Amino acid sequence: MSTPTAGDWRIFRGDGVRRQVAMPGAPPWRRFGAPERARGPLPYLISAAHADVVNAALHLRRPLLVTGPAGTGKSSLARAVAHELSLGTLLRWPVNSRSNVQDALYQYDAIGRLRETTLSRDQGEAEPSIGSFIRLGPLGTALVPGSSPRALLVDEMDKGDVDLPNDLLTVFEEGVFDIPELIRLPEEQATVEVLTADGDGTATVERGRVHCTEFPVVIITSNGERDFPAAFLRRCVRLDLPVPDEEQLRAIVAAHLGEEALREIDDLLRTFLRRRAPGELATDQLLNAVFLRGSGVDLDAEGLLNAVLHQLSGTV
Ligand SMILES: Nc1ncnc2c1ncn2[C@@H]1O[C@H](COP(=O)(O)OP(=O)(O)O)[C@@H](O)[C@H]1O
Ligand SMILES: [Mg+2]
Repeated sequence: MSTPTAGDWRIFRGDGVRRQVAMPGAPPWRRFGAPERARGPLPYLISAAHADVVNAALHLRRPLLVTGPAGTGKSSLARAVAHELSLGTLLRWPVNSRSNVQDALYQYDAIGRLRETTLSRDQGEAEPSIGSFIRLGPLGTALVPGSSPRALLVDEMDKGDVDLPNDLLTVFEEGVFDIPELIRLPEEQATVEVLTADGDGTATVERGRVHCTEFPVVIITSNGERDFPAAFLRRCVRLDLPVPDEEQLRAIVAAHLGEEALREIDDLLRTFLRRRAPGELATDQLLNAVFLRGSGVDLDAEGLLNAVLHQLSGTV
């Protein structure tokens, strides 16, 4: 067994020799395990003009549709708004090709209920409430009435089915949805406690209907892979985030990694800007490169810079 020498960033050497290594510290944006509160908010920089578009959506109680190339801070904006306005934990709905509005509203575990009900009966115990088998999804949880609105991120909606925007439209217009499994219940079970998307959180549902009292702060992101119908676009406030210029990139690096990280990054910035010009390169790729250099990684080593600052468009 050999131990890597101090200051040696090469943890894996490919020499087949088994060794004990201490993993180096993770970049701030890749730290897990600690709740967001303990970790502190990740910094977010936005121009006054763009912040005003966010404000317009907030005033109008309309969803904000955020577009722009990869890594321009679309998803991070939702986290920043939820944090700054103290809207609680951000509700996230990561959209994929199988996503549908129904599942995002709530899911009913009929099989689980059948199993547990039979089990309780066999053991002579009280049957569990139907509410413990109904879990509201991120969209459903966002519509639960409360003293202040919740923040909901509908992330990468262009990855979803063509019908998704229209299906969502109805929910966003009405601010209400029904849970038929609860509507059917007898009068004495008019009030049911169901689970929410907040881990062990619960919400009280009356007569199987969830009706928001304040429209949630909804931020929808899209990478522009799909056009949305006019009826949907009409009801959203649009924010198109541009790729950050050199000055903004420096500010973002300093915000994430401290002012001292700006020393000796001129060459990295130049390379980043040169490579970004013809294709697509995300801001977090620059953050990765600066972080690696700060950890003593030799970015001039063959192929290493290419591995971090690789083009995002085209075939891989
Ligand atoms: N304006 C910004 N201010 C601070 N950090 C940013 C900004 N834009 C991007 N970043 C950083 O770049 C990374 C990618 O941002 P993200 O929000 O995931 O981009 P997108 O959703 O547009 O692809 C995040 O780690 C984020 O911290
Ligand atoms: Mg994103």
